[in-house]
Amino acid sequence: MKWTLAGVTIHANNPSSNTASALSAASIPTHPGAAAASLDTAAASLDRGNVAETVIAVSALTTGEEPIMDQEILHDLFIEQIRDLYDAEKQLVKALPKLAKAAESEELSDAIRQHMEETQNQVARLEQVFESVEVTAKGKPCKGMKGLLEEGNEAVTEEDKGTLRDLAIIAAAQRVEHYEIAGYGTARTLAEHLGLNDAAELLEQTEEEEKQADTKLTEVATSLYESSDEEEETDVETDEAEMAGAGSSRGRTSPSSKNASRRKR
Ligand SMILES: [Fe+2]
Repeated sequence: MKWTLAGVTIHANNPSSNTASALSAASIPTHPGAAAASLDTAAASLDRGNVAETVIAVSALTTGEEPIMDQEILHDLFIEQIRDLYDAEKQLVKALPKLAKAAESEELSDAIRQHMEETQNQVARLEQVFESVEVTAKGKPCKGMKGLLEEGNEAVTEEDKGTLRDLAIIAAAQRVEHYEIAGYGTARTLAEHLGLNDAAELLEQTEEEEKQADTKLTEVATSLYESSDEEEETDVETDEAEMAGAGSSRGRTSPSSKNASRRKR
């Protein structure tokens, strides 16, 4: 791999010295106060093909000002984020079977079971992310997911099995999905910024799955609303038919009812 900086070609085999040559060839003076580490950072950024990071590092070399954000700190933040997600997904793997069982709607329990399989794959995918950055896969207790799952559990215990409980389960599950979409979006953006392209790609796959799971839950909720509306209409029609039936049977014995019945006609 090679790049061009200030008109000078930089080869991957020695980006550090080539970056220095490029700057001097382009008569870009290195600031006397520039941290020596900035040259390494610029070279490492080029090595990863991260243009944004390179610009920041080269700017630090020429102005003598420290980069706004140390990439190492951002890397630590990234690891912390994926550890949080790893724990969150593991909590979800344990919780989803109970939610699937508690649902009355077959469509909802199928959707939850399907997402449970996806969640197991997402745990494995996060392990690949850890591997791609050569860090041991380890979770950091995710309090957010714990709280969301506690709320989901309340929906199950507070409502009897039925449409209302199903809708409460969906409400809790969609909160979980949105929480995960936010977490994966942040981790993916960090990975992109750090030039961790493999990790970014893996995280984006899961982010898309979470979005699809959220859409699926909206579809299930919509069909639950529709079927409960239909049921209500059928109930109203049945009630009306029963009332009309009761009216006509009363009509056979009561003259006033007969008159009322005639008036209706
Ligand atoms: Fe997930």
